[in-house]
Amino acid sequence: MIAVDWAGLIGVIVWIATVLFAMEIILRAKFVRVTGVPRMMGWVRAVNGYLRTPAGLINMIAVLAIPIPTLAGLSDQSARLFGLFWVLKYARYSAGLVLLGRVLRNAADSLLSVMLGFLIVLIAAANAMYLLEGESQPDQFGSIPLAMWWAIVTLTTTGYGDVTPLTVLGRLLGGIVMVCGIAMFGLMAGILASGFADELRRREFLQTWDLVARVPFFHDLGADKIAAVARLLKRREMSAGQVVMRRGQSGDAMYFVVEGEVEVDLVSGPVRLAHGQFFGEMALITGEPRSVTVTAKEPCLLLELDVADFRQLAGDSPELLRAIADEAGRRRS
Ligand code: CMP
Repeated sequence: MIAVDWAGLIGVIVWIATVLFAMEIILRAKFVRVTGVPRMMGWVRAVNGYLRTPAGLINMIAVLAIPIPTLAGLSDQSARLFGLFWVLKYARYSAGLVLLGRVLRNAADSLLSVMLGFLIVLIAAANAMYLLEGESQPDQFGSIPLAMWWAIVTLTTTGYGDVTPLTVLGRLLGGIVMVCGIAMFGLMAGILASGFADELRRREFLQTWDLVARVPFFHDLGADKIAAVARLLKRREMSAGQVVMRRGQSGDAMYFVVEGEVEVDLVSGPVRLAHGQFFGEMALITGEPRSVTVTAKEPCLLLELDVADFRQLAGDSPELLRAIADEAGRRRS
């Protein structure tokens, strides 16, 4: 049987990957446009420019991750451990991580303020503990760096219990530090949670904005009005055959068709409504139940305007209300 040298094979694969990553940098840099310089200089500048972008920097780290430890004299096996940095290359393909990156960037100021507070409490707690417990427990609190270990374990509420204060004042301080720790982590969680919510809302707003701008009915509105309308409308997806509203139901919303077609089941025969048209307005205007059943005939993308937002929009943009009411009048006649 042929014995396979797995370690050697992995080594070859790792080096081939490193060379491919280096080639990737050169190819990607090709798309950084540099004009007005000699061809060769253009390439050098392009690579230089690309390496200054976050993606370029990560790609460079991936290329150097194994060669540098190898040149520094590490064994092949130990150097390969640095291949861990390759994971960074693929982080940007994860939508969740990209979102996290944006949230961290947006909330950086607030997070840094909390971390600064954390650092101040940490240093103050270590100093105070050194003064309070340094004499009675010199092994544990005999210096500020030693006391720092207790401070960090307590402030992060980890509480190994390997070092504990013995004096009454020391214990009192311990309690205060624990409460500070919980408050700071709560604060950070709050900042991140609201950052995520803001980011998701922003994305949804941009998507809705895009959809609203595609509906001819809103074409005449100015950018500020479109923004106001986009804040009120919600994206709704309907599958083929799904009943959007049933005759006799009370009306709680009207809809604008962005994609697909719906069928209005009139007594005189079905009528189709497609891109740019709206329905469900009659019940909102008159307060009466739905006049007919409306069904999605194919997968549809709709924008929903609920009754409260309809009233707000009508107040803000009387010209829109007039256009909707005129169409409702035509449909009734
Ligand atoms: P509403 O009565 O709230 O719910 C059913 C909807 O079907 C109605 O509002 C109108 O939007 C729509 N509809 C009613 N009659 C017609 C018609 N003749 N043509 C197109 N749509 C209609």
